[in-house]
Amino acid sequence: MTRTVYINGQYLPEAQATVSVFDRGFLMADAIYEVCAVLEGKLIDCQGHFTRLRRSMAELSMNLELSDDALLEMHRTLIEKNALDEGLVYLQLTRGVVDRDFAYPPEDTPPTLVAFTQDKAIVESALAKRGARVATQPDLRWHRRDIKTTQLLYPSMAKMAAKAAGADDAWLVEEGYVTEGSSSNAFILTQDNVLVTRELSTDLLHGITRAAVISLAEDEGLAIELRAFTPDEAKSAREAFMTSATSMVTSVISVDGHLIGSGAPGPVADKLRAHYLEHSRAHAM
Ligand code: PDD
Repeated sequence: MTRTVYINGQYLPEAQATVSVFDRGFLMADAIYEVCAVLEGKLIDCQGHFTRLRRSMAELSMNLELSDDALLEMHRTLIEKNALDEGLVYLQLTRGVVDRDFAYPPEDTPPTLVAFTQDKAIVESALAKRGARVATQPDLRWHRRDIKTTQLLYPSMAKMAAKAAGADDAWLVEEGYVTEGSSSNAFILTQDNVLVTRELSTDLLHGITRAAVISLAEDEGLAIELRAFTPDEAKSAREAFMTSATSMVTSVISVDGHLIGSGAPGPVADKLRAHYLEHSRAHAM
C-alpha cells in the first residue's frame, strides 16, 4: 500500500508530497516536530504532544493556523488513510519557503506542515523484551534541548558511535552527568529503590512519556528524586530504563558494558511499562 502523507492541507501519495528546496526546514533546520504513538488505531498522549508543539512554536516565534482539534482530526485521517493499527505519527512544522537568509521571514510567511505515519511494533518490541545496552557519549548538542527541533544530526552521530561501541543507543553526558538518551529520557532505580530522573531545564527535552511515567510511579508509591545522575551511579543502579513515545518504557540492561542488576529487564521497569501501556490504552484518542 502506498503511504499517504499530509502536506499543507492535502493528503497525497508519498511520492507526490514534496517540499521546496527553499524550505527553511531543509536549508536551516528551522523546524520542529512531534511524534505520537498509535495503539489499536488510536493516539497516545496526543494532547501532551500538541501542548509541547505549541511551546516549541512559542519559543521560536513560529505560526500555525490549525487548532489542536484540527491537528487531531488530521492525525486521525492519516491513521485511517494508512490503515495504521500500531506505530507512529510524525508531525513536522517549518518556518516555510523563502529566499535563504539568516533573519526570520515576515510573520505572515505560510509555514510548511507535513505529517506521516510509520508502521512499527511498539508493544511487542524485541528491544524492550531484551533490554537496551547503552553507551555514554558526550552531549554536544545546542543548549535549547527543551525545544523539539529537527536538528537531529548530533543525536544520530551519538547513536552511531554507541552502535560502533556495541550498544543499541547512546546516553548523553555533560559535565559528568547524564542529560538524556539520543531520543529518550533516562531513569535509574537506585539500590534503595528511589527512582531518579533529571529535573526539567533547557538541558533536556521535556518528555511527554517521562511525565506520564513519573505520575504512574507516584501512584505506585515509589520514591522519586528529580536530579541528575552520573554514569557511575547508573552502572551501580538496581535498574535503569528510558522513556519516549517510540520506546514507551524500555529497560536499559547495561551502561558502557557494565551490566545493571542481573543484566535483564528489571521488575520495576517491567511494571511501569505495563502500567504505561494500560494507561495509554485507557486514554487513547
Ligand atoms: N524522541 N529526549 C529526546 C532527545 C527525544 O528525542 C525524545 C523523543 C524524548 C522523549 O520524549 P517523548 O516521551 O515526549 O517522546 C526525550 C522522539 C520519539 C523521536 O525523535 O523519534
